[in-house]
This record gives sequence, C-alpha cells and structure tokens, in this order.
Amino acid sequence: MKKRVGILISGRGSNMVALIEAARDSGYPAEIACVLSNRAQADGLKKAQAEGVAAIAVDQTVFDTREAFEAALDAELTTYRVDLIACAGFMRVLSADFVTRWHDRMLNIHPSLLPAFKGLDTHKRALQAGVKITGCTVHVVRASVDDGPIIAQAAVPVLAGDTPERLAARVLEVEHRLYPHALKLFLKGQERAAAGSLGEAQVSVNQEKALFWPPLS
Ligand code: GRF
Repeated sequence: MKKRVGILISGRGSNMVALIEAARDSGYPAEIACVLSNRAQADGLKKAQAEGVAAIAVDQTVFDTREAFEAALDAELTTYRVDLIACAGFMRVLSADFVTRWHDRMLNIHPSLLPAFKGLDTHKRALQAGVKITGCTVHVVRASVDDGPIIAQAAVPVLAGDTPERLAARVLEVEHRLYPHALKLFLKGQERAAAGSLGEAQVSVNQEKALFWPPLS
C-alpha cells in the first residue's frame, strides 16, 4: 500500500515537483495526496495543479491565531487522508503541538549539511564561514527548527567564485534528487520496522550510504 503524502510549501515548489514526479513511478512507495500552501500566491500551487495534484491554500493571514491556522491545516490533511507530511520550502514554524501530532510522520529538506547552518540564509553563511563542502539534508521534523533524525544527505562542493545564488542553484539541483530518495528510504525503513525485522525505522536509514554530488567514482 502506498503511503499518502501531503506536501507543505510556501513558494516556488521545485522540490514539490520533484516529489510529484518521483511518485508517478508505479514502484514508488508514496503517492502525493495534496499540496498545501500557507501563502495563497505561492507559485507552487499552480505547478501542483498543472501536475494534476490537489492544491489548496491555507492562507495564514486569514487566521487570528497559530492554533486556528494549524487546525485548518490538520483538517485538510485529514480530508486528503494524509499519512506523512513532506515540508518543501514551507516557511512557517509549526508549533510543538502540531509537530507532536505528526511525530515521525513529517519530513523536511534543508539546504545545508545539518547540523551546520540551520535557519535562513544558509548559503550566504556557508560562504562566509569558508566551508569547502556543503549540501542538503532530509530529516524527520522535531519541534526545534531544522532539527531531528537525519534520513539522507548529499554533499556539494563549494567552488571558487561562488555567490549565494550560484551555490543555491547547484544545491537545489541535488535537493531534487535527494528528497525523493530520502522519502523512499524512510518509507522502506518503516516497512521493514513494521515487518518486525528492525527495532526502529531510523536504524535502517542510518545504514544507507551518503550521496555525493557529483557522484564519487
Ligand atoms: C529549498 O532550498 C529547501 O531546501 C528550502 O527552501 C527551498 C525551497 O525551494 N527549505 P522550492 O520551493 O522547493 O523550490
């Protein structure tokens, strides 16, 4: 049985498109049930519609409280019978209550090698720090921002003359490969755990090899 994934976005939605495309494969363990955006104007909503996926704005500005906004989000996730959330450029911090309700059922992608460079402006800060390798991480969401068990990472070299924009573009290309890969790993790990062959899904994902970009020969 394929798991039903709800994707949360705020903007462009290029990782969302990568997940939708991966999920078209009949052998992929997930199907995309819906895309929800906290911003009504998010470009990703139009892209999701064009891909034939239910796309709904849960406009945060119309709610008086964070609780009301999150209740509306939860209601949509229930309507679409979502098993697992994939945050993909979702720029609103979720409350500890929401994260607890979705414990081990919510993933996120972050454009750095966590735990380095949590938060915003990651590429600018990576360049300022002079790191020679950066990358991206898919992790399970916990209440603290950009924190939680790491499912998969991909390393991207920093090149001479990189600007935050150039680096972001190269990392983004790799994100589009990493997210579908990590979601699959996570679900396969859960299947194995449910079948009793592992104590915990995380054990299996931690045994997977790291990805490098460009691939190491
Ligand atoms: C990505 O770099 C993602 O890692 C970060 O926000 C960006 C979203 O881009 N969390 P997109 O909306 O998927 O194109």
